[in-house]
Amino acid sequence: MKIGIAADHGGFALKQVLLQHLRAGGYEVADFGAYEPDPEDDYPDFVIPMAREIAAGKLERGIAVCGSGVGASVAANKVKGIRAALIQDHFSARQGVEDDDLQMICLGGRTTGPSTAIELAETFLEARFSGLERHKRRLQKIARLED
Ligand code: RB5
Repeated sequence: MKIGIAADHGGFALKQVLLQHLRAGGYEVADFGAYEPDPEDDYPDFVIPMAREIAAGKLERGIAVCGSGVGASVAANKVKGIRAALIQDHFSARQGVEDDDLQMICLGGRTTGPSTAIELAETFLEARFSGLERHKRRLQKIARLED
């Protein structure tokens, strides 16, 4: 699976942990930065380019990390076609894909530890959309807002 990862300074350290782990696990991971911790950088500059690549079908999934995961989530969901959510628990990491067809999760580098983040990322990446009619119907109602 070809995926992307992006972070600002608040998520930089966690991104590096996830990047190394996911590549070692066989994922092809495009790194959208930041490439060094800069306290003046802005999460939209990393998250939005990745979200656009996902929306364009060039990447299958993405993981965005900022300090809390909140800003990354807000930014990503402004990109047409993107379904992103702040994820802090295992149930949501899986069900967010199975029911809501998430292509992106957002993690908090200041709120979620590395071992938990790895488990959340793996759960998210291994989950698949159920394709059930009721979930498609709900997603269509959301998608219509973008037209
Ligand atoms: C940056 O300091 C911080 O505001 C950002 O990483 C993120 O937590 C925003 O939601």
